[in-house]
Parts: sequence; structure tokens; C-alpha cells
Amino acid sequence: MLSFASPYLEAVDQTMRQIVKSSLPDEEGFGVMIRYALGWSTAEDRPYEQPAGKRLRPLLLLLCAGESWQRALPAAVAVELLHNFSLIHDDIQDQSIVRHNRPTVWQVWGIANAINAGDAMFTLAYAALASLSSTLEAVPLLKLWHIFNATNLELTRGQHLDMRFESQTNVPSEAYISMIRGKSAALLAASAQIGALVGYADEQRASHFATFGLNVGIAFQIHDDILGIWGDPQVTGKSAATDLISRKKSLPVLHGLEHQPEFAAIYHQPNELSSDNLKRAVALLDQCGAREAALQAEAHYYELAMRALELAQPDGQSAGYLSQLLAFLFRRDY
Ligand code: IPE
Ligand code: IPE
Ligand code: MG
Ligand code: MG
Repeated sequence: MLSFASPYLEAVDQTMRQIVKSSLPDEEGFGVMIRYALGWSTAEDRPYEQPAGKRLRPLLLLLCAGESWQRALPAAVAVELLHNFSLIHDDIQDQSIVRHNRPTVWQVWGIANAINAGDAMFTLAYAALASLSSTLEAVPLLKLWHIFNATNLELTRGQHLDMRFESQTNVPSEAYISMIRGKSAALLAASAQIGALVGYADEQRASHFATFGLNVGIAFQIHDDILGIWGDPQVTGKSAATDLISRKKSLPVLHGLEHQPEFAAIYHQPNELSSDNLKRAVALLDQCGAREAALQAEAHYYELAMRALELAQPDGQSAGYLSQLLAFLFRRDY
């Protein structure tokens, strides 16, 4: 990913393995779904050495904690576990069959087991947060707890809207932003804010970091929407057609619905999209400039993120790393 990231990511992995191992009752094959989702095991519970995800949220949290980032490791693990809980449930909700170039948890173990594994992952996230009690006083820890809870509610609110919009023909752009703010950006905002609270213990500064994370998160989800249509499934590790088949109201789609009547007619027909229709829909989105419009919106939110970062005044070294991270996210193809 990024050359400076290795020490952070190795520390996250090590701490996450400790926390999962010490908190997870691992009898009768229960833990394998968790290890599989985190990229540590194959479905047969053999060691698997590829990290499943980019570990973006813990990296962001640690970079926002500045020099004392090691103190924030349990919080970094908490946001990554929460993120992975949301992926397990999201793949059920979206009927996605591939993630991280592997069958999704529900594809391997069935929906009922995957819901249960997601619940366990959610609980592990709180176990990770609780292990901050060895370094933080009760009052600041409770503050983080509130942020974490509010973020979880935002996440489920966003997922609710995401699913509701599948059958809603007219979705205003403000409603779209509200939806992605909940389903994705809230957790990036919380990651940045929690990192700053642990690292700098300064609420004003942490609120600038929260604004920074929120705008990174909005831009990140817009980029994900673009990859959901034009990304290479080999590179992204997930299917490119799922968003269109389930009639997601992603940002390029909103542009197409507004500016390309033939696209709108295909999208609004109630039947399953044939592969010809799918191809035609993508061609029409290309034609009407949906991709460029989404890229422009993404750039706008990165700009807002950069402005908030200036106000947050991160430490010298992490400031450079955070700027590199932003540049990388804007160019990412996975
Ligand atoms: C996927 O997030 C879900 C979104 C919010 C778009 P990531 O792309 O960060 O997922 P992993 O963890 O790297 O797979
Ligand atoms: C992102 O979901 C938000 C959550 C996982 C909560 P999406 O459905 O947009 O992301 P992908 O494309 O499945 O990763
Ligand atoms: Mg989804
Ligand atoms: Mg999804």
C-alpha cells in the first residue's frame, strides 16, 4: 500500500490477533469465520497470510494520534473490527458473493451463520475498545465509548437508507450524501477523532480531525461507487455488477438518472438486468459523463478534507503521512 504504513499495520495486526485470541471462545469451529473475514485463515481454517482489507481505518486513526500512536492501538483495532462486522452484514444485505477475491462469509457458511459471526465481530470491537482502560482514565474512555456508539447508529441508519433507496426512483443528492455519511463516512470520522483524542487530548483539535475524517469518508465512498461500476473485479476483489443489479443509488447512477433518459428507463424497469442491459447501462453512464461528475464530487470532498487537516495541525511526521494517504486514496484502484 504505502511504504510508511508497514510499522503501523504490523502493530495493528499483532494487537488485533491478541485481542481476538483472548476474547473469542474458539470451540467447535466458531472462530474460523472471524479469522477468515480478517484474512488470517482459509475456510478450512488453515493459515492464510494475506490481509483481507486495506486496514485504512486503523491507519487513519493511528496517524491522527501523532507521536503517541502506540497508545491508540486498541482503538485502531476496535474500528477495524467494527468495519469488518459491517462488511459481513453488508454482504448479506447486498447479496454480494465475492469480497477480498474470496467467497463472502455468508456464501461459505450460510446467512444465519454469517449474521451470527457478524454479531461476534461487533462484540469483539467493543472488547478492543474496553482494553483501552489500561491506558485511559474513565472519563476520556467514556467519551470514546459515546463516539463509538453514535457511529454504530449512524452506520445502521446509512445502511437503512442505502437499502431503502434501491426501490426509490427519485433520490436527491442531499439524501445520497446523508446516506453515505452514515454508512461509510461516520466511521472514518470517528477513527480520526478517536485517534486525535487519544493522541492529543484536545477536543477542539479532535473536532477538526473529525471533520477531516468525515470528508475523507465521503470522498472514499464516492470513489467506491465509481469502482463499483468501472473497477476491475480482480483488483477490487469484489463484483463490479452488484451495485447496478441491485439498483443502488450510487453517485454515478444519480447522474445517469438525471441526464440520460435511456439509462433511467433501463434502471427503472422492474425485472432483473440482463447482461446486455448491464453493458448498455454502463455505456450510457460513460456517454453522459457520470464518471467524470463523480470524480469531480470526490475531488471536492478531498479538498474539504485537506482544509480541515490544516486546521487540525497534525504533528510533523504524521502530517506528511496523512497527505500521502489522501493522495493515495484518490488514485486507488482497489
Ligand atoms: C469497503 O471499505 C466498504 C466501504 C465503505 C466502501 P474498504 O474498501 O475500506 O474495505 P477493505 O477493508 O479494504 O476491504
Ligand atoms: C459500504 O457498503 C458500507 C458498509 C459496508 C457499511 P457498500 O455496499 O457500498 O460497499 P461494498 O462495495 O460492498 O464494499
Ligand atoms: Mg452496501
Ligand atoms: Mg456492499
